[in-house]
Amino acid sequence: MALGFAADGAVASDPAKIVGPNACTECHKQEAEAWKGTHHFKTFREMPRNTKANDIAKRMGVRRIKSESLCLNCHFTVQQKDNKPEPVSGISCESCHGSGQDWIKLHGGFSGKTEKTETKAEEEARWKMADSKGMIRPHSLYQLAKNCYGCHVVPQEDLVNKGGHKAGSAFDLVSWSQGEVRHNTWYSKGKDNVPASAARKRMLYLVGLGVELETGLRAVAKATVRGAYAFEMAKRVDRARKQLAAAAKAAPNVPEIAKMVEFAHSAGLKLNNEPFLTAAADGVSKLLASISETYDGSTLTGLDGLIPEPDKFVGTARKPGTIN
Ligand code: HEC
Ligand code: HEC
Ligand code: HEC
Ligand code: HEC
Repeated sequence: MALGFAADGAVASDPAKIVGPNACTECHKQEAEAWKGTHHFKTFREMPRNTKANDIAKRMGVRRIKSESLCLNCHFTVQQKDNKPEPVSGISCESCHGSGQDWIKLHGGFSGKTEKTETKAEEEARWKMADSKGMIRPHSLYQLAKNCYGCHVVPQEDLVNKGGHKAGSAFDLVSWSQGEVRHNTWYSKGKDNVPASAARKRMLYLVGLGVELETGLRAVAKATVRGAYAFEMAKRVDRARKQLAAAAKAAPNVPEIAKMVEFAHSAGLKLNNEPFLTAAADGVSKLLASISETYDGSTLTGLDGLIPEPDKFVGTARKPGTIN
């Protein structure tokens, strides 16, 4: 059974290939500690006890939040155990980095050698192989961002209109990734939870906005009735395209940004306009893939004035410390 939300344009995680966060923690202790301080971790225990959650579930005809895929898809990590899908944790490593079974051994194995003796060519081949097995690394910013927005836009009409679920919030990839979610502790060997560099922030900002636009267009495409969902999703697209228009002006050396805005205006934000909205989203998608291949942020200084400051970061990043 395939859970996940591939139909919404996001990367689906496959319960049959989920290894669960404990398998990652074995080597990634600092990253796991950071994760344990997040809402992503806590939702596993707290959400099913929340009265608001139970009201939403009741309106959706969900009897047990932890046993029906409607809520599981976005609030939990589901692993296939004894042929049954079982929620094993909240939103965890593999919700963002991809189901691990096919790449967990490979990605950190230094091609069967040691860190010092693996050649550059072998290292490149190893990462390429891990990517092809479904690993989503910081390097694949577009894929990584698609996962965040696939959940955070809440692109499900019934859940919003009938269930009364929040239609997401004003998510932006810089402030939402640099607060409580941040766990850049691996390559600093656990000494520092390194904030994104200026160049990296520009990429997070630009790719994040683009993915918000793409996800929003696909979400409007699925709207079938006038109501909170159609209204909120259209509003999100309109906001993203205005912000991108400002970015296009600030960074005229990146022609792809203006092209994304053009695509966004090529389809009316209305009901029953699925083919045009989907075509617009596909156009944005191609540009985003090209942006994340072509640029590393170093030449995008024009965007600096638009990027949220640290006082906007959501939650507090964990300071690395000793772990018993
Ligand atoms: C046996 C130890 C081990 C386990 C288990 C492990 N990792 Fe890793 N991981 C590593 C090593 C080693 C590296 C760094 C490799 C290098 O420097 O080339 C790494 C690097 C990474 C990176 C950074 C990739 C990059 O592009 O730099 C991510 C993300 C990651 N691991 C995620 C995970 C996740 C998610 C899991 C669980 C599904 C996991 N790891 C399990 C050893 C492990
Ligand atoms: C498409 C993904 C998605 C699905 C499906 C989903 N949620 Fe959520 N939910 C979210 C996200 C993302 C948030 C955090 C919203 C934010 O602050 O951006 C959230 C937040 C919540 C909250 C806190 C909201 C608040 O107002 O404080 C509750 C309660 C909740 N969800 C219940 C449920 C229940 C019950 C189900 C199943 C019937 C469900 N969710 C299905 C993505 C989803
Ligand atoms: C909410 C999504 C999300 C979750 C959950 C998550 N990660 Fe990450 N991870 C990211 C993002 C995004 C980055 C890259 C951040 C950046 O480039 O600024 C990253 C970066 C990393 C890195 C590179 C760190 C470095 O020092 O540069 C490793 C290793 C890693 N994650 C492992 C894990 C492990 C292990 C878990 C579970 C304990 C986990 N991640 C949970 C999104 C996530
Ligand atoms: C599998 C779905 C899913 C993915 C993927 C996901 N999130 Fe979330 N996120 C949620 C849900 C659901 C909540 C609300 C949890 C709760 O409070 O019950 C949440 C909460 C958060 C919060 C806390 C918000 C608050 O109210 O304080 C932050 C920050 C956040 N997410 C950032 C990110 C970032 C950044 C990414 C991508 C790198 C990401 N998320 C990927 C589902 C997801």
